[in-house]
Amino acid sequence: MSGPETPAPAEPGKPGKPGKHGIGRRGFLGYVGSAVAGAAAGTAGGAAWAGDGDSESPAPVGLGTEVAPYGVHQPGVATPMPAVVEVVALDLLPDTDRDALGRLLRVWTGDVEALTTGRATPGDTEPWLAAARADLTITVGLGPGALAAAGLDAPTGFEAVPPMRHDRLQPRWSGGDLVLVVAAREGTTLAHAVRQLVRDAVPFARQRWRQSGFWNGTDADGRPMTGRNLFGQVDGTASPRPGSATFDETVWIREPPWTGATTLVVRRISMDLDTWAELTRDRQEAALGRTLDTGERLSDPGPRAHARLAHPMENAGARIVRKGANYATEDDSGLLFMSFQASVAGQFVPIQRSLDRADSLNTWTTAIGSAEFVVLPGFERGDWLGSGVLGSGTPG
Ligand code: HEM
Repeated sequence: MSGPETPAPAEPGKPGKPGKHGIGRRGFLGYVGSAVAGAAAGTAGGAAWAGDGDSESPAPVGLGTEVAPYGVHQPGVATPMPAVVEVVALDLLPDTDRDALGRLLRVWTGDVEALTTGRATPGDTEPWLAAARADLTITVGLGPGALAAAGLDAPTGFEAVPPMRHDRLQPRWSGGDLVLVVAAREGTTLAHAVRQLVRDAVPFARQRWRQSGFWNGTDADGRPMTGRNLFGQVDGTASPRPGSATFDETVWIREPPWTGATTLVVRRISMDLDTWAELTRDRQEAALGRTLDTGERLSDPGPRAHARLAHPMENAGARIVRKGANYATEDDSGLLFMSFQASVAGQFVPIQRSLDRADSLNTWTTAIGSAEFVVLPGFERGDWLGSGVLGSGTPG
């Protein structure tokens, strides 16, 4: 069943294969970091605390990386999910036209360059909160409303996810003209970055919804591993691996002016943890088609098993790249499901339809929010996000 790019599941608590931004770089920075941390503590934002006779600084733990904001693609698509993420959807104000959208994207480009390298943004009233090496990525996308306002043709296959039988969508978690996916290794840097970005958008757009998630993608020693969702399942094993040909084919759009872009589907999927917990382990494993302890495939999964139904072999070869995060609020718990693919219609929708038709997990999972966006191509230094898309032609 396993595709060519399907890695072996990481044993929970044991590291998976290091990715591009994986153990090598992280481990290296962790090592180098110990030398620079002491020097930086007195000068940068962190308050140095030196008690009398307390000459030894504590050993650094869990140092993150600086993810360069430049490139053909926005980097946050391929980086592993760090500890915390916020997805923010905004609606354009009525007079935000193509020109104004271009101005907002220029402002956001400056913010992305500053924040991801640990610098404050212009007008930042809490500049101390901009932290270096925070695994911070900021990914920007346009929803159908922004495409319409700017007079842009959507890339092929970009469409709204059609209603599914099991959906119970709520407007408060759905739709949006713009999206920001902001991810980091800890919540203070994340909250600060989101605040700057939303504040800078005020002349152009207002926040529509904001969803937070968390993910544990590292073991106790800080090494990458495949995380678990709130059902306790090892989740993310079979997603195409960044850097592979399958990943590139699955995700990137190759059609001008959208070359280097991708599409993002965000689904807020509520999970009934109480009734799930009433199942025997056998039934839980059968519903998924994988074991709970290590996430290995069952040798003979039933026809309604989630992992089997979602597999490319059951969907005419269609693949997606998943990047989810858990959420837990006073209302409910679940998965902030994110899927990247070149075409929503050609890749996400057929898989989602298969699952809606027969997935055993449907008894315990319900989509309560849904939105889709085109993630802009990346940008190089001196350039701005969306220039290749908005900069061409006559602004309307
Ligand atoms: C709360 C809802 C969901 C849960 C708890 C869940 C959980 C899982 C788990 C544990 C796996 C097996 C491990 C892995 O390969 O990552 C898996 C696989 C997968 N899921 Fe889901 N999933 C959910 C929703 C969805 C949705 C909405 C889609 C797409 C429409 C989807 C698509 C997939 C795909 C494509 C695979 C990999 C299949 C393969 O190639 O073997 N899942 N899911």
